[in-house]
Amino acid sequence: MRVLVTGGAGFIGSHIVDALVGAGDEVTVLDAVLPAVHRTKPEVNDGAELIVADVTDPVRVEAALDGVDAVCHQAAMVGLGVNLDDLPAYATNNDLGTAVLLSAMARRGVRRLVLASSMVVYGEGGYRCPADGLVRPGPRRPADLDAGRFEAPCPCCGNPLQPTPVTEDAPLNPRNVYAATKVAQEHLAAVWAITTGGSVLALRYHNVYGPRMPRDTPYAGVASIFRSALERGEAPRVFEDGGQLRDFVHVHDVARANLQALRHTAPPGRLLPLNIGSGDPHTVGDMAHALAQAFGGPVPVITSAYRAGDVRHIAASSARAGNILGYRPQIAFSDGMAGFARDPLRG
Ligand code: UD1
Repeated sequence: MRVLVTGGAGFIGSHIVDALVGAGDEVTVLDAVLPAVHRTKPEVNDGAELIVADVTDPVRVEAALDGVDAVCHQAAMVGLGVNLDDLPAYATNNDLGTAVLLSAMARRGVRRLVLASSMVVYGEGGYRCPADGLVRPGPRRPADLDAGRFEAPCPCCGNPLQPTPVTEDAPLNPRNVYAATKVAQEHLAAVWAITTGGSVLALRYHNVYGPRMPRDTPYAGVASIFRSALERGEAPRVFEDGGQLRDFVHVHDVARANLQALRHTAPPGRLLPLNIGSGDPHTVGDMAHALAQAFGGPVPVITSAYRAGDVRHIAASSARAGNILGYRPQIAFSDGMAGFARDPLRG
């Protein structure tokens, strides 16, 4: 199979390219190799053809689709961003880029798409109230966060809630610019599928970590921020009380999920979302300790600081990806974090 991997020079994309080349597939990489992302020259697998172009360039994108059977769309601007000055860049890279790609695929008759989506489309994860059952808490109030009340209360009775794994049928509730652009990407891809009879598997990644993760920037995930701090000899600074749950999934498992998705005969004419997590959620405090211990210190600091827009708990049910793709995460949290303490970071 010939696969076009957009963003194939990036963190997740480069692992997908390695896995595809290793499996004997033909790979075209389309990547803008932006200096802001790649401070050093990225190494793209020698077995892949690299086209340095922006995914918003309709002519280059259409040319890159030559002979392609399926597209794996990873090119995106990620992270929480800095402020609303980031809005045009997120919308351009993520939504205009996806629109350009989808229209070129429609013209070229390419009908298979695997889309990198994110758990950020849900906002908060799943919650159960002992009295009211499954509920959806609203955004947390600054006054509560300032007072160290980090748990979101039940929106019906105000009692404490139990986090539960989020499933793909949960309503979408994007809470930051990046999340809003990921929801829009899914919607654009769904419309493309309905119109062309194509198929889309939208892989909603949870917190991906592993080798080649970009170093500490305002756009980096927490695992990279902690690892970069340790490298500087500084303690990881854990926000809130460290009790917030996340589903840390190793990039090799995410790459395997992409290969399974590319090989799957997905239902035509629709977008099927699939959570890609580890099945073993941990608190951010646990993660900081595991990483610091594997690195050899210093011990993490719990700061009680918080970031506006952060959700409290989110962990995946990856059962649907298991049933449909045969996805089974293989890298255990303890092994993954021990490796990540030494893995090379990028940039
Ligand atoms: C992250 C990504 C998001 C991606 C998603 C799934 C970022 C900023 N967010 O979402 O783009 O789609 O995973 O892969 O890349 N924290 C600290 N100390 C710090 C930084 C963060 O304790 O120095 C805490 C945060 O308060 C939060 C948790 O770590 O509770 C996770 O943060 P982070 O990895 O930034 O973002 P997510 O919202 O989980």
